[in-house]
Amino acid sequence: MTVLIIGGSGFLGTELVRQAVSAGRRPAATFHSRPGSSDGATWHHLDLRDPARLEEVLDTVAPTAVINATSGGADWAVTAEGGIRLAQAAAERGIRLVHVSSDAIFSGTGRDWYDESCLPDPLTPYGAAKATAETAVRLLCPHAAVARTSLIIGNGRSEHEQLVHALAAGTRQGALYTDDIRCPVHVEDLAAALWEITGSEASEAASVFHLAGPDALSRYELGELIARRDGFDPARLPSARRSDTGLHGGLDVRLDNRATQQKLRTRLRGAREFLSESSPEQT
Ligand SMILES: NC(=O)c1ccc[n+]([C@@H]2O[C@H](COP(=O)([O-])OP(=O)(O)OC[C@H]3O[C@@H](n4cnc5c(N)ncnc54)[C@H](OP(=O)(O)O)[C@@H]3O)[C@@H](O)[C@H]2O)c1
Repeated sequence: MTVLIIGGSGFLGTELVRQAVSAGRRPAATFHSRPGSSDGATWHHLDLRDPARLEEVLDTVAPTAVINATSGGADWAVTAEGGIRLAQAAAERGIRLVHVSSDAIFSGTGRDWYDESCLPDPLTPYGAAKATAETAVRLLCPHAAVARTSLIIGNGRSEHEQLVHALAAGTRQGALYTDDIRCPVHVEDLAAALWEITGSEASEAASVFHLAGPDALSRYELGELIARRDGFDPARLPSARRSDTGLHGGLDVRLDNRATQQKLRTRLRGAREFLSESSPEQT
């Protein structure tokens, strides 16, 4: 199976590439602003806003499956239109598409947990763009997998961990919210689950998956766990309530992963479990 990782240079993409190379494969991967660091992949420059370049990359790689791990944030042309463009191309060429979506598609109001059957009700431009892309993927590519995920944590390198380190060290202003709840996932579990889904039969892969951990934590609680694991003093972390800031976006958004977990061999660990171990980069 030839797999193209779109967004292979990003945080999740780097782990997808690493796992493929460790398993003895040589994946094709794309970057936008800077090539990825792995020599084990074949790198292609791609801007999802450029339809001709997308066709060129697909012609060159001729993938049987594509994992879309890009993030264009709230940029509609990348996150919404780019996702739709890729879904159209995948449908025309009969390519299996695995599309990474986000818990930002949900408002966090009116329910405790969101399962895989829940439909988007986004509050932010980023959430709306992600919701638009995943809706197009589901309608245009009936055999596609939509994989919704939450805060992605690694071994010190995610944006969330870097923020905690900077706040604890006093090198950055800001605070961690005590009322902003998510279900973090470890990047290694997430990438392994995406590879498992990508390698499944098309009929098994055609679905919505919730690739999030089972533990719901506030960003402040998550920060305390990260600080402890990485040798920082959690007492130095500033806290605040996001509801006092007027910032838009869902406050309490919990992805229920139980139906997804029953389908997968890959275990999606909760943050309390994976953050109780010391970081490999600290040892
Ligand atoms: N990080 C989280 O906590 C989180 C939470 C929920 C959902 N997600 C979802 O998980 C996925 C991976 O997130 P991540 O944190 O790994 O993202 P990331 O580190 O920001 O990586 C984004 C990737 O998208 C590429 N990209 C950016 N603009 C592009 C464009 N115009 N055309 C083509 N590629 C472009 C980047 O390329 P360059 O680096 O070369 O510019 C990079 O490879 C995304 O779908 C995101 O929405 C992430």
